[in-house]
Amino acid sequence: MREVPVALRLIDRIQENHKTITLVLDHALDARPGQFCMLWLPGVDEKPFSIAGPDPLMFTVSRVGPFSEAAHALSKGDPIWVRGPFGTGWSVGPGRALLAGGGYGAAPLYFLARRLREAGAEVEAALGARTSADLLFMDRFGGLGLPVHAATEDGSMGAPGRVTDVVAPLLGSGRFDRLYACGPEAMLKALEARCRETHVAGELSHEAYMRCGVGICGSCERDARLVCMDGPVFSVPGGG
Ligand SMILES: Cc1cc2nc3c(=O)[nH]c(=O)nc-3n(C[C@H](O)[C@H](O)[C@H](O)COP(=O)(O)OP(=O)(O)OC[C@H]3O[C@@H](n4cnc5c(N)ncnc54)[C@H](O)[C@@H]3O)c2cc1C
Ligand code: FES
Repeated sequence: MREVPVALRLIDRIQENHKTITLVLDHALDARPGQFCMLWLPGVDEKPFSIAGPDPLMFTVSRVGPFSEAAHALSKGDPIWVRGPFGTGWSVGPGRALLAGGGYGAAPLYFLARRLREAGAEVEAALGARTSADLLFMDRFGGLGLPVHAATEDGSMGAPGRVTDVVAPLLGSGRFDRLYACGPEAMLKALEARCRETHVAGELSHEAYMRCGVGICGSCERDARLVCMDGPVFSVPGGG
């Protein structure tokens, strides 16, 4: 599979929380964590989604607008058209890794956590959301037996506040070689600044409006870089 959409079937549909599902497809993809695919529903739209798992291929979709609503309406056995994988992924190797996720960002980071553990890394995760009902993948990260720090804006689970409030002191502790993050733009901006202050290398996955996904249309351009080709993961250098 790559540039031409392939029709895959939905073999499972996992309800993750009140607004998020995971689509499980009848396909295995050779992909790295941090890469994405373009999902197409004819008559609706085509949108990028991070790979939540490669075998079977999985995407975690939060319901926010027309495309995600249509994806939520799919049932087992329905087709969905997929092309990819596209983009850079996160680097995978040994070391001490901190993973920070906001919203659906927890899903691709869970795929990353599994690959990092296989590579011998020490992994901790920090997950944030508005309320405990919005937190995603807490149980799955917990199932990997790694420390999970939660933050909720209403204080209903974990530390009260944003995930950046939890991550900032962890980055300053000297315990981590690398920060991996996926979430809303404001969160990524704050984490990038904190990486620079603490000299911890960062690999941050960004969102942009995408149409082609393969470097042709220019719709995902940010600061003279194409998020679909040069990203979505962009590095912040570490070191002193
Ligand atoms: C590289 C990449 C990977 C992505 N991976 C995922 C993924 O794994 N899971 C996923 O659910 N989405 C992911 N997205 C976002 C996805 O492509 C769509 O933009 C999203 O599903 C909204 O599309 P829509 O048509 O449903 O709503 P739209 O009409 O595009 O958006 C409706 C409203 O919701 C806002 N909005 C858009 N996305 C979100 C969000 N995530 N949380 C809160 N508000 C939002 C918009 O600003 C708009 O105001 C990714 C985007 C990129 C660029
Ligand atoms: S989506 Fe077309 S250039 Fe990136």
